[in-house]
Amino acid sequence: MTNYKRTLITTALPYANGPIHIGHLAGVYVPADIYARYLRLKNEDVIMIGGSDEHGVPITLKAKNEGVTPQDIVDRYHKIIKESFQKFGISFDVYSRTSSKIHYETASEFFRKLYDNGKLIEKTSEQYYDEENKQFLADRYIIGTCPKCSFEKAYGDQCEKCGTSLSSTELINPTSMISGNQPVLKETKHWYLPLDQYENWLREWILEGHKEWKPNVYGQCKSWIDGGLQPRAVTRDLDWGVPVPIEGTEGKVLYVWFDAPIGYISATKELTSDWEIYWKDPETRMLHFIGKDNIVFHCIIFPSVLKAEGTYNLPENVPANEFLNLENDKISTSRNWAVWLSEYLEEMPGKEDVLKYVLTANAPENKDNDFTWKDYQAKNNNELVAVLGNFVNRALVLVNKYFNGEVPVAGQFTNYDIEILSSILNIKNEVEKSLDNFRFREALKNAMDLARIGNKYLADEEPWKVVKTDIERVKTILNVCMQITANFTICFEPFLPFSMEKLRGLLNIGKMDWGKLGSTNLLTAGHKINSPELLFEKIEDETIDVQTQKLINTKKANKIDEITVRPAKENIEYDDFNKIDIRVGTVIEAEKMAKTRKLLKLKIDTGIDKRTVISGIAEYYEPKDLIGKQVSILTNLESKNLKGVGSQGMILCAENADGSLSIVSPEKNVKNGSEIK
Ligand code: 2FM
Ligand code: ZN
Repeated sequence: MTNYKRTLITTALPYANGPIHIGHLAGVYVPADIYARYLRLKNEDVIMIGGSDEHGVPITLKAKNEGVTPQDIVDRYHKIIKESFQKFGISFDVYSRTSSKIHYETASEFFRKLYDNGKLIEKTSEQYYDEENKQFLADRYIIGTCPKCSFEKAYGDQCEKCGTSLSSTELINPTSMISGNQPVLKETKHWYLPLDQYENWLREWILEGHKEWKPNVYGQCKSWIDGGLQPRAVTRDLDWGVPVPIEGTEGKVLYVWFDAPIGYISATKELTSDWEIYWKDPETRMLHFIGKDNIVFHCIIFPSVLKAEGTYNLPENVPANEFLNLENDKISTSRNWAVWLSEYLEEMPGKEDVLKYVLTANAPENKDNDFTWKDYQAKNNNELVAVLGNFVNRALVLVNKYFNGEVPVAGQFTNYDIEILSSILNIKNEVEKSLDNFRFREALKNAMDLARIGNKYLADEEPWKVVKTDIERVKTILNVCMQITANFTICFEPFLPFSMEKLRGLLNIGKMDWGKLGSTNLLTAGHKINSPELLFEKIEDETIDVQTQKLINTKKANKIDEITVRPAKENIEYDDFNKIDIRVGTVIEAEKMAKTRKLLKLKIDTGIDKRTVISGIAEYYEPKDLIGKQVSILTNLESKNLKGVGSQGMILCAENADGSLSIVSPEKNVKNGSEIK
């Protein structure tokens, strides 16, 4: 749509069962924010919609595990998510939530209209039912053995080991996660959207009508449509969600993927009483910013729902991204493999724009991409600091030094000056072309080219040398540099909003429209700027090491979690146990055994005597830290010669799943010689 009057940007509503991580940001919120800021700078009518997706089985499962209500869970995470977005500077016009009253009303009305107009079909099918708890089981509430790979903990909708999509009736030995019993099949009635009836229309609308969509999006749509569409249930037997607005349907709610996208409409209603022009006026352009796992819902299912309703616009484009990995491993909430936004904001204060920059420069636009802390550091130090920040700093410092902070008057421009000044307009065109086509990485690279050009200009012209002979020429050079710097505040505003606000402060100017970008007279001669400050700071290795160490710790913890505990040993008689004499003793001497890696030689006061014990704990304890520590010692073990030293007893340790050892000590200090029984 080339002639549109306004734009409605929707951003995938994140599930309110965990905080936001860099994968969400890179895939959805950073590009959507850049685009919204860009349109606002162009003075276009645009609104950007966000909110929390507060339904769905994972939320109810989490609530059950924690012994709280689903509402408690979503209240907790909605707050965390909303605050972190706000601090990070994602400029939603509204950030709503799907447990709100307005959403319940909107989603119910929507369903009711489809139902009343005969757009839904009623179907009875057999589904698993937990007889003890008297409830139907959502797929995620059933585990069993995967028929494909024999993994014993596959879910009713998917095996997380081999990735196969399943239906719960395919599971071998299905078990209810609520009662632990085997569920039974029982008939239940649901409402379905007959997607098969929309197949021809979808083919025409997307495959013929939207060939301009990104290849990853178009390709997924094509394979869904070519594969043949089936009716989709839009209701579920659950007690958390928007109740089905039909008499006699207690215990049934709207399917989360039916109500969530309607959340975009509810949020728009919350924002403005003019909501209908954003949803129904054909001159409004709707864009859905999402990650690739949401493509089918936003390109096939939700548009079919909107089409069935009949009065709403369809999306004009769906610029979905692929996934971002972290240090070569898939981001995963359950494995805590992520950089969490709320933690980043606390641990890296003032570095919001750095993360925005790195996530954009590395955006997974056409294929999955990788975030590494080393690359983050390199992009900050070598690009933001060394290219953009360096140019700005040199320009500001020189104007302050030579002209007392006043923008100097330009004299006669050389051909080179003219070339440099006209490159600003060329770059504007390039950035626009990239942004208009949702190519954010390319747009940022184009914008950075302006800083590169500026640095080259300064290096070529060397005003710090020319100043000795030709001050008039220096005035012209620095006037050009100041015009470039002022143009940055427009060009980089969508990408680096906090830094550009700071730069405007340094330049002592206000915010300017996108239309001014390319102008060579943004700062008039005589305009007074403020004292320079660094726009970006170098990030040292130590800062990065803290972050990488956190990830190493996560990996270790996950490894330990994955290891299964050894089965119990055979039972013994009490008398067998009674033969063992375990006492509490105190370490009075400790030293490393020469020529060994693992052994420590300890002298222990056992209360009975003072004896030498050789222990294989050298990798986990420093000798000096052991002096005075109380330990448990098996005293009646036959003594043994280890590397020529007699060891009289054994220090008891817990062996962690990774093989590391941890000394077992009494919880409170006790008299040496106390028996452990
Ligand atoms: O994948 C997700 O995180 C979903 N909560 C996205 C929903 S988008 C929209 F439909 F609400
Ligand atoms: Zn499997």
